Amino acid sequence: QHRPVIAPSMLKCDFGNLQAEVDRIDAANLPLYHWDVMDGHFVPNLSYGAMLIAATRKRTSTPFDVHLMISDPAAYVDEYVKAGCEAITFHLEAVPEPRELLQAIRKQDVVAGLAINPNTPFEAAEPFLQDCDLLLVMSVNPGFGGQAFMPEVLPKIQQARKIAGDELLISVDGGVAAETISDCAVAGADIFVAGSSIFDHDDYGIAGARLVSQAGS
Ligand code: DX5
Ligand code: ZN
Repeated sequence: QHRPVIAPSMLKCDFGNLQAEVDRIDAANLPLYHWDVMDGHFVPNLSYGAMLIAATRKRTSTPFDVHLMISDPAAYVDEYVKAGCEAITFHLEAVPEPRELLQAIRKQDVVAGLAINPNTPFEAAEPFLQDCDLLLVMSVNPGFGGQAFMPEVLPKIQQARKIAGDELLISVDGGVAAETISDCAVAGADIFVAGSSIFDHDDYGIAGARLVSQAGS
């Protein structure tokens, strides 16, 4: 088992001082930025888009994963490739036949991710796993940071790991904190998206290290 990847959810960062946030994240050795893009349609909240991500791309060499919570991801994928995202994740609920879009993302040498909401069963995603590099299991209903972790999604992580083997990256997103991360790790997740459990702390390095150690315990 490799070292757990803690991915700070940028939804919770201080956009009034983005450069300082980038510096703090990179100083904390957090290895993956998680960008939550919301369109006010697929989810009842609006966040930011490719322009902001492209601007930040110039400020750090840490990889970017963009989590598209938008209704028509196929229309926007190219913008996020151009913005310099290393991984692009979109929702199965937005694209019920996701194979073509997953393949199109892979063709651009970008990690192709598929996200599923808490009430979407694992079986709905299963037929598409061969075309996926990453499965993102939502552990809250998407739209807002700071919600409580839903332990009922853990069996989906277990199923995915069992069926897809070690090749698939499994990311868990929503309410991941020191108290919940070890159950996610035991279930088989390898990427842990962390909003509040990073940004609510003064020292992102200490917060990140605590999550890593709890993931292994
Ligand atoms: C929710 C987002 C999450 C969220 C994580 O729609 O996908 O990435 O912001 O924030 P916390 O860790 O606070 O639940
Ligand atoms: Zn997210």
